[in-house]
Amino acid sequence: MFEHHPDTQALFPENLTQQKTSLLSTLDNVINVVEYIEELEEELLNLGTYHKNLDIKKEMFDDFISTIVIVANLSSDYSLNEKELAAWESAFRKISNVMLKAY
Ligand code: HEM
Repeated sequence: MFEHHPDTQALFPENLTQQKTSLLSTLDNVINVVEYIEELEEELLNLGTYHKNLDIKKEMFDDFISTIVIVANLSSDYSLNEKELAAWESAFRKISNVMLKAY
């Protein structure tokens, strides 16, 4: 992510330990969110506005999604197979599509 969008690095704290924990809890939440995506539309729109206000560009979401899935896979003890990786990508894409309605 930082390699493709070096300008985003300044938005994150220098020590990413906290982000690693929140990344893993985000993955947990994603499973729940996708099941109830319609009910959570308003919250996801707010999350989209939050990112827009942080000056995160629409174009960054694709790289973000690939990165988050790869990093989660590398940092967990269990290695995901192709099908599982694709399922995670698809879940994040559904969430992003709602967030991006705020743009
Ligand atoms: C599926 C897409 C995404 C999801 C589900 C997501 C989720 C979240 C959540 C839940 C937060 C915390 C909000 C809060 O504290 O109230 C957050 C913060 C943040 N997100 Fe995202 N995000 C996504 C995409 C992105 C993208 C594309 C970027 C760009 C690099 C990004 C950068 C950030 C930054 C910089 C913060 C604030 C970090 C901090 O101050 O600790 N996010 N995101």
